Amino acid sequence: MGERTVMVLNGPNLNLLGTREPAIYGHDTLAQIDARLVAYGTELGLTVECRQTNHEGTLVDWLHEARARGLHAVLLNAGAYTHTSIALHDAIRAIELPVIEVHLSDPETREPFRHISYVGMAATDCVKGLGPQSYIVALERAAAL
Ligand code: DQA
Repeated sequence: MGERTVMVLNGPNLNLLGTREPAIYGHDTLAQIDARLVAYGTELGLTVECRQTNHEGTLVDWLHEARARGLHAVLLNAGAYTHTSIALHDAIRAIELPVIEVHLSDPETREPFRHISYVGMAATDCVKGLGPQSYIVALERAAAL
């Protein structure tokens, strides 16, 4: 509920981290990444809430919830919805909270269909290409807001 709460939202297929294309995404599981974020959040004076869903509308609902609760910021790795979802784009614009786009890989160096980011067109900031460290850097940026 606090103003210094950061929601970390992960979209489709990110529940498979650890075994999913490790050459691209690494070997860390989402549970390991989430645990690190919660611990580092404590150091930074932030409460970190981590969630994952494979469903686009659920991400929209959680963004709305972040606004309703007046949270400090959202870190969003929308997975493939990054490149397709005007609904997420609109939700980010609607909630008027800082939303930091996060990616483990750098989509712009990958297949052309990953070069467009509807999330990025609405988000406040973006951290990508650093593997799990992308989330850590994004959390530091959220703490600085
Ligand atoms: C990703 C990049 C997206 O293109 C892809 O669809 C994902 C993961 C990343 O974290 O690198 O699911 O968001």
